[in-house]
Amino acid sequence: MIGKFITVEGTDGAGKSTQIKLLVEYLQNKGFDVVVTREPGGTSISEKIREIILDVDNSEMSDITEALLYAASRAQHISQKIKPAVAAGKIVICDRFVDSSVAYQGYARGLKMSLIEDVNRYAVDDMTPDVTLFFDIKPEIGIARKKNVQSLDRIEKETLDFHYKVYNGYKELLRKYPQRIKRIDAQKDVEEVHAQVVEVLKQIL
Ligand code: TYD
Repeated sequence: MIGKFITVEGTDGAGKSTQIKLLVEYLQNKGFDVVVTREPGGTSISEKIREIILDVDNSEMSDITEALLYAASRAQHISQKIKPAVAAGKIVICDRFVDSSVAYQGYARGLKMSLIEDVNRYAVDDMTPDVTLFFDIKPEIGIARKKNVQSLDRIEKETLDFHYKVYNGYKELLRKYPQRIKRIDAQKDVEEVHAQVVEVLKQIL
């Protein structure tokens, strides 16, 4: 069996985690071998890099350092976990991937897009997602959801203006890659969002 690589994207608080759990249950009930992972993170080295990136005390971190750390975390994740799992026929579901770097470090931080694309080309080693689910929710709604359940990390603490740049960046990506990126209306209730996710998955499995 050929494995699949599915990525899940969106602004902070879009409800990705809840929907990933439901999707995993759905796929496992159908008998698929599923691996769930996240970025930044997914391996012990990548999780250590994650701590550095999201630490609220690291306010002096430069934008370029941030972009390179995300890419470094990704390079390890791809080679150690994602590539081998897909090669073994598994369905890998990854919470965030390169599109996050394009939206956050490219569109929102304003780093040169060619820089983001170049470093990530090395990091991903030819692994392109088979499908990407973009959870579309107004940034202020997402941030309000997050504030209710946990303390905010370094990225989540950014201004609403920043989160709108991220959001508009995702919209650009959606226009650029209509074949790969599928929009999910994440403002609907949990069951309705899940139904949209299943619809997209049926097309690739
Ligand atoms: P996380 O707690 O996983 O956020 P969420 O639950 O919203 O996915 O933290 C990851 C944060 O890192 C999130 O704010 C998005 C940001 N990010 C980037 O800026 N660039 C990237 O390449 C990735 C993978 C994440």
